[in-house]
Amino acid sequence: MSVSISFKINGEQKVSEIRENTLLVDFIRDSLKLTGTHIGCDTAQCGACTVHMNGKAVKSCNVLAAQVDDADIVTIEGIASTDGEMHPMQEAFRSHHGLQCGFCTPGMIMSALDLAGRNSSLDEATIREGLEGNLCRCTGYHNIVAAVKSGALNMSKNTK
Ligand code: FES
Ligand code: FES
Repeated sequence: MSVSISFKINGEQKVSEIRENTLLVDFIRDSLKLTGTHIGCDTAQCGACTVHMNGKAVKSCNVLAAQVDDADIVTIEGIASTDGEMHPMQEAFRSHHGLQCGFCTPGMIMSALDLAGRNSSLDEATIREGLEGNLCRCTGYHNIVAAVKSGALNMSKNTK
């Protein structure tokens, strides 16, 4: 059965007809063509598919697209400024070498933004705990933690 949903994605209001059993991650990638959101496990374990739904990080392989009716969704494509300048968290991942293959990176950054939004000061233990739902096969996490710490600091400076 198909259902109609009205939602905002990266600031743009949209209406779509979807099958009621479509996963949000498949809808984002296949219908909306926003392929920065990755699928690593499809079972809510790796965090590669993390997006924001109404301001909170969610694993989009664990959400039905039908659930985003009236919701505000942000994907990795929606966080840079409109002139193309990277978000401070993206810039921090770049400058701290917080990625290698990059597969986990969109999900890491979306989770890091949620974490930074909920904590004014982030120490290493808080970052490691906050990102435990996001897996990286390449980096050993050290540079990711450094990137998130720096990105969160720069975000807090930008809001002062
Ligand atoms: S693809 Fe969603 S958590 Fe791995
Ligand atoms: S950079 Fe390759 S999985 Fe994280």
